[in-house]
This record gives sequence, structure tokens and C-alpha cells, in this order.
Amino acid sequence: MCGIVGYVGTQQAGPVLLEGLEKLEYRGYDSAGIAVRNGSEDAEVVKTIGRLQNLVERTDGGKAVAGTCGIGHTRWATHGAPSKTNAHPHVSGNCTGSGSGRVESLVVGVHNGIIENYQELKAKLERHGYAFYSQTDTEVLIKLVDYYYRKYKVGPIDALAKTIVRVRGSYALAVMFKDIPDKIFVARKDSPMIIGKNDHETFLASDVPAILNHTRQVYYIGNLEMAELSAGKAVFYNLDGDVIEKEVTNIEWDAEAAEKGGYEHFMIKEIHEQPKVSEDTLHKYVFGEGKNVKIDLSEVGLTEEKMKAYSQIYIAACGSAWHVGMEAQYVIEELVGIPVRVELASEFRYRKSGILPNSLVIIISQSGETADSLAALRMAKEKGTETLAIVNVVGSSIAREADYCMYTLAGPEISVATTKAYTCQLICSFLLAVAFAKARGRIDEEQYRYYIGELLSLPGKIEATLSDKERIQWFAAKYANARDIFFIGRGIDYAICLEGSLKMKEISYIHSEAYAAGELKHGTISLIEDGTLVIGALTQSDLYEKTISNMMECKSRGAYLMGLTSYGKYDVEDNVNFAVYVPRVDEHFIGVPAIVPLQLLGYYLSVSNGLDVDKPRNLAKSVTVE
Ligand code: F6R
Repeated sequence: MCGIVGYVGTQQAGPVLLEGLEKLEYRGYDSAGIAVRNGSEDAEVVKTIGRLQNLVERTDGGKAVAGTCGIGHTRWATHGAPSKTNAHPHVSGNCTGSGSGRVESLVVGVHNGIIENYQELKAKLERHGYAFYSQTDTEVLIKLVDYYYRKYKVGPIDALAKTIVRVRGSYALAVMFKDIPDKIFVARKDSPMIIGKNDHETFLASDVPAILNHTRQVYYIGNLEMAELSAGKAVFYNLDGDVIEKEVTNIEWDAEAAEKGGYEHFMIKEIHEQPKVSEDTLHKYVFGEGKNVKIDLSEVGLTEEKMKAYSQIYIAACGSAWHVGMEAQYVIEELVGIPVRVELASEFRYRKSGILPNSLVIIISQSGETADSLAALRMAKEKGTETLAIVNVVGSSIAREADYCMYTLAGPEISVATTKAYTCQLICSFLLAVAFAKARGRIDEEQYRYYIGELLSLPGKIEATLSDKERIQWFAAKYANARDIFFIGRGIDYAICLEGSLKMKEISYIHSEAYAAGELKHGTISLIEDGTLVIGALTQSDLYEKTISNMMECKSRGAYLMGLTSYGKYDVEDNVNFAVYVPRVDEHFIGVPAIVPLQLLGYYLSVSNGLDVDKPRNLAKSVTVE
């Protein structure tokens, strides 16, 4: 989704803004722009479509635009097509052409999010003589700020407060006022924005990596809060216009964690980080050794009493995080014996059937800002249900609003296609399964220690799987022209297939589908023809024969078979054309190493086809719109 940045300080703003936008490129965008102010002069606005590099070239890396205070934006089109005119920044004044140049205007601003009632507001503003040059909701928002600022002759914070009371939707909004040089004013609701500061400079951004080269001191601005930013200073306000105190958070990642570190793409770097981040996540919650080893969720806030009391678990999430939920469902139901329902957050949020009493709703999200997941969380809370978030981004909306929060320690994930955050989410859900099973007396001490031991072995098993990556690379080269790929499996293997298939289609653009293996013959098998690649996940011993039979049904219709199973099950080669093995581990947890070959397959197919692996078309990293 869109990315926003802002800077006010002692350096020239242009290069700092472009550097920040570059760090936010992973969020997905189709146009970009900056507005920089030089003292009391009007803002100079530059907008380009396509890659950020176009804006870098237009502005000589930002150096061609004078001034030490500015805002910038990468736009992922929602209202109005990708075009220079619709690109941000937007201005309150009348504007001809695409809006680039020194634009005479009282208010200039950038916005990430969606203003739901923008048409009604636009009509109101038109009645007051405002004319619009773009199709965006953002232009309406900026003009509304202008309207309240002029009409009530109030200060900028009051004008922003009046604006945000009037709009419905989500926004991370940053504006500059012509008559207030060297200051940026911001407001936020349901779209990510952080404020960073050092002694002489202040930054704003949609995400931490954009400012890490300059400061680690970050403030999280809450919903319906505003701030006034000047060089080295940030003052925060609530909706009543009262000053509020905020604690500064020290970001512990190092800036290199958000760089490619010698890898060709972020995705392959992040795939290789999985042993390390899994280990970090495990050691955040597992303590002690030998007989004393235990899972400690006290930081999460979940007590044994709580874990005993729930009679139903719901898991709501989107995309890959939903696939984690699907896998967790099988594992939790089996280990804990508690019913689990997995829901797509976009559906769950509108369910009218209610939530059973005594339930726990688990929301899984890497970004902690996914609009549907956040809405599902709020819906559950409104119904009085307890909520637990499994989240990667510290201080994100979902992390802050859930009753309990279990952080994954995946570090910054830049590639749009998730890999390491997905794996850490799986690990957190397995830790929960084992902790719940122990609390509810479903497993004894010995089984408890056995499961923890198996979990602790996962980082090494991912490492071992990665060491076999050349075979996958070879196979990908052979299948680079595939048109359709089917993934089939049962139970946990079906959940693995869902994620394998998504990894494939989102970055390689090859059509693929995941099917519960027994379901294929109820219709979809008609699509299998000579040479169609069918990948069977065969990690579950009790379901192995069944899935093999379904694969053979495909083979007899011409399919080429790849089997994904564990070390030792070498007889798979009697049936499949190509076999991939992952190390053995308790089969509840084998999804962690088993996803790695499928991540690699998606990656290498994308590379073979010369595609933009880290920023696949039409996709955004953090989906903050419904
Ligand atoms: C796919 C992918 C997406 C996300 C989904 C949820 O590779 O990354 O499907 O899993 O958009 O995002 P989060 O986890 O941020 O809520």
C-alpha cells in the first residue's frame, strides 16, 4: 500500500525523503512524489509515475529541490488510475496540469489510507467553491483541512481535529501549511505511521526501515491522535487538542537487517534468515534446559487459568497468515482437543452468527496493520471476546489493540511475499498448541519436553533443507514455462499446499491451485492433462498412501508428479517423477521445514522468468485497505 515519509531538520529534505521512499518501495506503488518547502516559499511539488527511480532522476536524487522541510509519498492506486495528476502530494489550491512545480497553495499533503465518505465531502466542498483536479480521496482530505483552517481561523491542530472528526475511513496524513514554515502536521487512524527524532531532525514514515539510517528513537502515534513536527521536536495531541505525553521506543534492529546483504533479492535473503529468526522466536518463549525446559507465555499475558478456561478458538487472518491458521487448526485440535475455526478475516468481520461464549480469537498478522484483520479483531472485542495477536511489527495497531500479544521475531520483512514471518507465525502457533495442551492436562511432562525438544530442533532442520536448494533451482529451470500447477495434500499437508501454491502464483505469475487431495476428483481433475505439474505434499505418515493414490489418479491422466516428503520415505520415488525430502521432525511441526522447498520453487521460477521477485505486480506488502 502507499508509503509516506516526512522530514524537517537541518539537511536538504529531498535526498532524505527519497531515501525513505526507497526503503518503503516494498509496500508496492505505481507513482511517487515529494513536496519540499524552502522557508516561507510555496512548496515545490514533483511527481512521477512508475518506478521511484524516475523521481530520483527528475530531482537529481532530491538535490534539485531546495528546502529542509518536506513530505513524500509512494501511491498504490485506489481512487483514480495511476497518473501524475492522481499521484501525491496533493494541494488545496487550484492546480493545472499534473500538479508538479511550485504550487501556490495553503495546504499541501500526503495520505495513506482510504476516505470512505470522500464523495459526500467533495460535494460539500464544491458547494463552497472548491474545484478538484484529481480523482483522489486525498485531494478532498487536503481541501477539507484548508476549509476548516480558513473558515474557523483556528490553528493547524484544531483544523486537523475538525477534519478527522468529519471523515470516515483510515488515514496516515501529513500536511504542511503555507503560513507555518518548517513544520509538518500529522494525524493518524488505522493506517501505519511512526515518528522518529534525533537532536536536530524529525522524521515521519509508514514503517521503521525508512528512518533507521537516521534515528532509532521512535514514537508510535495512536488512533485519532495528531502531532506537530519541527526540527528535533515532536508534540503530540489528542482529538481535544490537549498535549499528550508519549514514550519513545528504541528500535533494536540494525539498519542492515533491512538491506539485501549481498543477496540478489530480499526474498532469498529472508528465506535464508529463517533458521536464525525461528531460533530467536523460539528462545523468546522457551526457557530452561533438560527437565526444566518450559514454554513461558507470561510476557504474552496468557495464564494457565486462561488457557484452561477457553472452550473454542477462532483464528482470523488473511493470505499466508490465514494459511498459518489452517495449519495451526490441525495441530491445536489434535494436541489440545479444543475446537478451532479458521476464518478469512475479510469474511469473519462481517459474520452475523456471533462468536461462541468462552472463546479466544487469535489474529495472525505480519504487519499488524492489515485492514481486514484489524477489523476482525475489533469486531471480536466489541462482542466481548478475548483476543490474542500473533504479530511481527512491534507497536502496530493489531499488537496494541489485542488483549494479548505474542510477537514473532522475524525482523523487518521487505519482500512482498512473506517467508520468514510466515515461518515464525507457525512456530508461535505451535508453541501455543503445546502450552495449551500442557495447561489443560492433555500431555504429561515427558510429552511436553518431547514437543519442546522437537520445536527447538526446527531451526537446524530448516538449515538442512536449505542446503539442498540447488536441486530445486534445477527443477525450477525445467518448469519455468509451466502454465498450471496443482498442489495436493491432506490435513497439515493441505495447509502446506495452500501456502506453496500462493508463493508460486504471487511471484512467478504461474496459475496454481491447492486442493485437499481427496477433493480433486470432484471436478478439478478435468484440468489435468499431459505434462501438468502436480505437487503432492506427503509429510503425514497416516495420510501418505491416500495422497499417493490421488497423485496416481493424476499421473494416469498425464500429470508430471513431484513429491515432497521426509527423509526415509524413499519409496516415494516408485511413484513420482521428482522427489524432495526434508528432515524428519514430529509430524505436527513438519510444515516448518516442508514449506522451504516450496518457497524456493516459487522464488527460482520467478527469477527464471525474469520477474520482479520482491515487488510482484499488483501486490502490496501491507494491505491497509479493505
Ligand atoms: C503473501 C502475503 C500475504 C499476507 C497477507 C496478510 O506472501 O504476504 O498474503 O500474508 O496480506 O498480511 P499480514 O500478515 O501483514 O496481515
